[in-house]
Amino acid sequence: MIRAAIAGVGHYLPERVVENDWFASFLDTSDEWIRSRSGIERRHFAADGQVTSDLALEAARGALTDAGMAPDDLDAVVVATSTPDLTFPATATILQQKLGMTRGFAYDVQAVCAGFVYALSNAHALIVSGQASTVLVVGAETFSRILNWEDRATAVLFGDGAGAVVLRAVEGQGTPADVGILAVDLHSDGRHRDILQVSGGVSSTGTAGHLTMAGKEVFRHAVEKLARCTEDVIAKAGVTMDAIDRVVPHQANVRIIAKTAAKLGLPMEKVVVTVQDHGNTSAASIPLAMSVAAKRGDLKPGDLIVTEAIGGGLAWGAVVLRWGHGR
Ligand code: UT7
Repeated sequence: MIRAAIAGVGHYLPERVVENDWFASFLDTSDEWIRSRSGIERRHFAADGQVTSDLALEAARGALTDAGMAPDDLDAVVVATSTPDLTFPATATILQQKLGMTRGFAYDVQAVCAGFVYALSNAHALIVSGQASTVLVVGAETFSRILNWEDRATAVLFGDGAGAVVLRAVEGQGTPADVGILAVDLHSDGRHRDILQVSGGVSSTGTAGHLTMAGKEVFRHAVEKLARCTEDVIAKAGVTMDAIDRVVPHQANVRIIAKTAAKLGLPMEKVVVTVQDHGNTSAASIPLAMSVAAKRGDLKPGDLIVTEAIGGGLAWGAVVLRWGHGR
């Protein structure tokens, strides 16, 4: 059977690094509060004029180089973002042009912080259905553009960045020993849409709007829903929790990451944590964390990995995959 395996991974962070102390110069907050409540120490912000597709481009180039592929080797590009360059065309087609890619098809997926998990699942479906053999999946965000700088409860939590993976079709045996994506579990529940949303949009206000969040409520949903869908996706993959080598969670809050891991009985040594350096980069957070961990040598060929995310919608999901060998 056909599996979608990871052939390459890359990431990009804008040059400007903003430490927690910077916020204390204009908000009633402190490094101590931000660090202890979220685990965040710093984040990167895009420069003026640097747009989401610019970040995506650097991450995509890194993933293609890692995979030993050229842009025209790709059949499709899927970009997960909630902060597109423009209302249309899709940031993915802008990326396609910037990459110099002249074939295939490209489109965006919008599932906020769960965007990369949704995009990965979508790219997996393209590959196993035979619609594409090689797919670039990117998570890229410029959340600094939708933050309310007067709201200390949200402004301190988010950052900009991009991560990318190249997926390639490989032959598998149909067992959990195969490399590539083994199982996917996606959910959404629009009844909770108002606890994490943006205050504007094309069809409502005609503006981009600003992010608003009922943090405590999102926190509660996050731990419960991430734990359940991680258990479910592991069962779907036909593996056990003990067999998991690495967890690459969405990087929103180290307390959510730790509580979810504890609920699942997963030791923190197995969990990739990058939130201290990146903040919450929404759809970019998982591929960013994957790329950083892979470059550190923390993700090895054959490793069994589970990745999970939740965000606005609410939308959430998890994927189990065996790392590598897509080259
Ligand atoms: O990626 C998508 C999903 N998003 C998330 O997963 C975020 C989920 N939520 C969270 O991570 C946490 O709820 C937060 C980090 C947002 C907040 O942590 P918390 O422990 O839930 O704090 P809280 O919202 O209950 O606020 C505690 C106190 C409040 O003061 P009072 O009412 O107790 O007097 C807040 O006003 O902390 C205050 N506060 C701050 N103080 C200093 C809120 N933001 C700040 C701040 N600096 N930046």
